[in-house]
Amino acid sequence: MPHDALLSLQLDHLKELQARYESALADQGFDSLLIASGAAPFRYGDDQAWHFQGYGPFLHWTGLTGHEHCWLWIREGHKPVLWLHEPVDFWHANQPLPEEPWQAFIEVRSSQSPRAPVLDDPGSLAVIGDPDVIDCVPGEPNPENLLRALDETRVRKTPYEIECLAQANAVALVGHRAARDAFAEGESEFGISLAYQHATRQREADAPYHSIIGLNDHAGTLHYQYYDTRPPGHPRSLLIDAGVRFRGYCADITRTTAGPGESHFAALIHGLERLQLRLCDMVAPGVEYIDIHRKAHQGIAALLSATGLVTGLDDQSIVERGITRVFFPHGIGHFLGVQVHDVAGKPTAPPEDAPFLRLTRRLETGMVVTIEPGLYFIPSLLEPLLEGELGPHLDQDLIRRLRGCGGIRIEDNVVVTGTGNRNLTRDG
Ligand code: GLY
Ligand code: MN
Ligand code: MN
Repeated sequence: MPHDALLSLQLDHLKELQARYESALADQGFDSLLIASGAAPFRYGDDQAWHFQGYGPFLHWTGLTGHEHCWLWIREGHKPVLWLHEPVDFWHANQPLPEEPWQAFIEVRSSQSPRAPVLDDPGSLAVIGDPDVIDCVPGEPNPENLLRALDETRVRKTPYEIECLAQANAVALVGHRAARDAFAEGESEFGISLAYQHATRQREADAPYHSIIGLNDHAGTLHYQYYDTRPPGHPRSLLIDAGVRFRGYCADITRTTAGPGESHFAALIHGLERLQLRLCDMVAPGVEYIDIHRKAHQGIAALLSATGLVTGLDDQSIVERGITRVFFPHGIGHFLGVQVHDVAGKPTAPPEDAPFLRLTRRLETGMVVTIEPGLYFIPSLLEPLLEGELGPHLDQDLIRRLRGCGGIRIEDNVVVTGTGNRNLTRDG
């Protein structure tokens, strides 16, 4: 989409937000709302702050991730006002805003002070944001029911938001291709991270989350957080879960690649990818998300059977006796937006058989979800299974060999459309 068309969609997005917010404020009995962008806290006992990314509702309106100490005031029937913190400071730079049409919808005022602005006739005022930042600001701080209602305004994405998520996906995919090439060239986890950052033109601190880049057995730690600076002697597998922000919106993509000669692992990746595509195709309005999660378990049972990892049990027993949960211990995915695990996914708690599921809702048009099945060889989960009564049903030798490949996850970002879905990660 041309940039001008995107900027024009942003105006529609802001009009829609104004309407959604006015309705939520009226329902909760407030006349106006002050949103704090936030401030990076200092590390305990140190003079260094954590890297800043900003508070969700502020990003929902502005997409401005790197701006601390800003305030946004929303009122019925008035233009929103943004106080943009631009101190005269020889230690730090101010990031100028490019001139864009949204500045006709939101009044921007430059502010020297990090403190909340003094508001002219705010009426009954709610103030939301990091409690440490809004402490002492007049108004009702973080009213629970209002926060819930505002979270709900983020569930059905506007066309602008979907386009931002699509563009975040397009950029992230360039990074994933570069990462795969770096792996093929024998790079270390650190080298692959550099290749990803270089290709996406985004430093890791600005990404929606710290990239997960695991070679070999490291791929079996779900949120593996280190980078080896030296490549392994024998590269057997790469799992990379890495995203990008575009105008505040997140991509969250995972790909797994087998090393040379790993035909069994490559076959598992192929089988899991076929399953993953079928699961993505289930995304449609009216579908219970948990049914996609349960379908993933059935598909993984079939894959464990077909590849000989589990024998002598039918697929249903493989699920019911808890074997698939050893290989696939996390949920099938979550909402995606200005936060990688976007809000409002769990109005009801997940069921006992899916404790880590982050989304328990029925799908509706405009929702954006991830679909991310996995199949891992995690020693701490496998050991009790191999040593227990089900042990004889598992090909222990094959599992021991595959442990060195760690695991597989394949993750796409999918929009619920009016009639089905649009997979942003496989567009085009
Ligand atoms: N990147 C974290 C996740 O997939 O949920
Ligand atoms: Mn995810
Ligand atoms: Mn991910």
